[in-house]
Amino acid sequence: MASDDSAVFLVAWRGCLFRVPDAVQPPKAGSLFFCRHLVVRPGERMLEIGAGLGLAAVLAAKAGADVVATDILPEAVRVISTNAILNGVVVDARLGDCYAPVVGERFDVVCTNAPQMPTPPNRARWDAAAAADNGGTDGWEMLDRVIAGAGRHLRPGGRLIITIFAFLGLKTAFAKLEAAGFTPTIVASEVQSFPRIGYERLEHIRAVDAEASVPAGIPATVERFMIQGTAPE
Ligand SMILES: C[S@@+](CC[C@H](N)C(=O)[O-])C[C@H]1O[C@@H](n2cnc3c(N)ncnc32)[C@H](O)[C@@H]1O
Repeated sequence: MASDDSAVFLVAWRGCLFRVPDAVQPPKAGSLFFCRHLVVRPGERMLEIGAGLGLAAVLAAKAGADVVATDILPEAVRVISTNAILNGVVVDARLGDCYAPVVGERFDVVCTNAPQMPTPPNRARWDAAAAADNGGTDGWEMLDRVIAGAGRHLRPGGRLIITIFAFLGLKTAFAKLEAAGFTPTIVASEVQSFPRIGYERLEHIRAVDAEASVPAGIPATVERFMIQGTAPE
């Protein structure tokens, strides 16, 4: 007799339950860091780009925000909706690249824990795991597009919130945000285990680590920053 032997993976956190389908990356240390420090007030309109399984989106909706959550993976968009229903909130989950699903719309908060692992050109891939991790040659490919488009999608005084690994460069992040017209501040920082896939491409990461954040030898940890860029009033 045929039997369905597939497992259902779940994450329980902060009183919420999240399904984790095969094609969507389970939450990592960076996901929890992002959620812990993401402050959204009741009634604010929030856009999360690259929402994965919807951890931050659901928690923000629980906190009373009006949330639009996007992802480039159809499986992610489906599970964001499922996870919102599982937790008794409404999240407007939309499929598409970066700002494509929200053309012409404005928000109080635009946030992302974007894919940002520096990726050697000959190692680029197009599967779900790569979508979750790979950030182009210097790690900034998606973050640059998020920063470039934020001015068109934030209300006056709105907040753009991003996370970065230290090897993307804190000074670089501030310079990019200032060049786009935002006032940058560090919201939080945390030392985390060095990411496993970072070891596979350590030489490449060192080559793009313009602010020399990665120590000699085999690094055990990496600092992670959450940075806010505030739009002019
Ligand atoms: C590092 S994961 C973060 C997921 C979730 N926000 C979290 O913190 O756990 C990055 C997410 O961005 C999505 N993504 C990658 N490229 C994208 C793009 N161009 N537009 C929208 N989402 C994208 C991936 O599918 C993935 O779900």
